Amino acid sequence: MECQDAAVSSLSWALIVGGSAYLVHQTRSHTQYGRYVAAEGLCCPARLGWFLQEVPALLLPLLLLLQPDEPQSSRDRTRRILPLCTFMLHYFHRSFIYSFLTRGRPVPLPIVLYSAIFCSLNGFLQGHHLLHCARFEDSRLTDARTAAGFLLFLVGMTINIHSDHILRGLRRPGETVYRIPYGGMFEFVSGANFFGEIVEWCGYAVAAWTLPAFAFAFFTACSIGPRAYQHHRDYQQRFEDYPRCRKALLPLIL
Ligand SMILES: NC(=O)c1ccc[n+]([C@@H]2O[C@H](COP(=O)([O-])OP(=O)(O)OC[C@H]3O[C@@H](n4cnc5c(N)ncnc54)[C@H](OP(=O)(O)O)[C@@H]3O)[C@@H](O)[C@H]2O)c1
Repeated sequence: MECQDAAVSSLSWALIVGGSAYLVHQTRSHTQYGRYVAAEGLCCPARLGWFLQEVPALLLPLLLLLQPDEPQSSRDRTRRILPLCTFMLHYFHRSFIYSFLTRGRPVPLPIVLYSAIFCSLNGFLQGHHLLHCARFEDSRLTDARTAAGFLLFLVGMTINIHSDHILRGLRRPGETVYRIPYGGMFEFVSGANFFGEIVEWCGYAVAAWTLPAFAFAFFTACSIGPRAYQHHRDYQQRFEDYPRCRKALLPLIL
């Protein structure tokens, strides 16, 4: 497939502009999901909802990866495929593991729909750009930067999965109550899972070093950063004994 340069830049800038607009919107009103929305409207069971909304971000890059391509040196191909595999690893976990373990409330149908559209477009954007458009420099500095990016990605993914595991452990099956999370990065921030996910996508962006990867990391920070603040405020109002030294999103800072 030929590189669709114009489509790639338009989608990347749409992520940056859309992320900024979403950030501003979330400073004024709550994200309509989970504890902030009444379960009266049209909703999808949490497990099915998470699966349906996340799996396109795994399937689209996989389809692109399986298409026959122009011959490339094995070094060049590895450089394209490795960042894409990290991206797909995240969405494999989110679609096939997180989805089936979640004990969350039903997800409003519009959120499932918007998220599925977002994951399809972003899965195509990341896959198409890495496989067909990106150009990589051959230098030790590039290798070191790529390695540092992968390391950051793994650290972020570990924090994200561990934090989501702590949250799941706060409920018995069938419960929908909220309790104070303790342990891991929750000792430092209320949005430990969000912090992990932001670190993860920053690592991916550093490893891939492409406009679409940075645009996605930026969008993620704009999209889930405010959720950490909303949860932080919610915990402070809900629990009198909520740990006072805990920050919202960034340990010791914010
Ligand atoms: N890349 C992106 O743009 C993006 C966007 C959205 C989400 N995500 C990721 O997807 C994952 C889930 O996101 P989310 O927004 O649903 O996270 P969340 O609000 O922290 O909720 C995660 C799960 O834990 C439950 N939960 C949260 N706090 C709890 C508490 N104090 N006591 C008991 N249960 C609690 C929630 O139940 P309820 O559903 O019943 O509240 C939900 O099932 C996170 O890892 C996040 O980073 C990524």
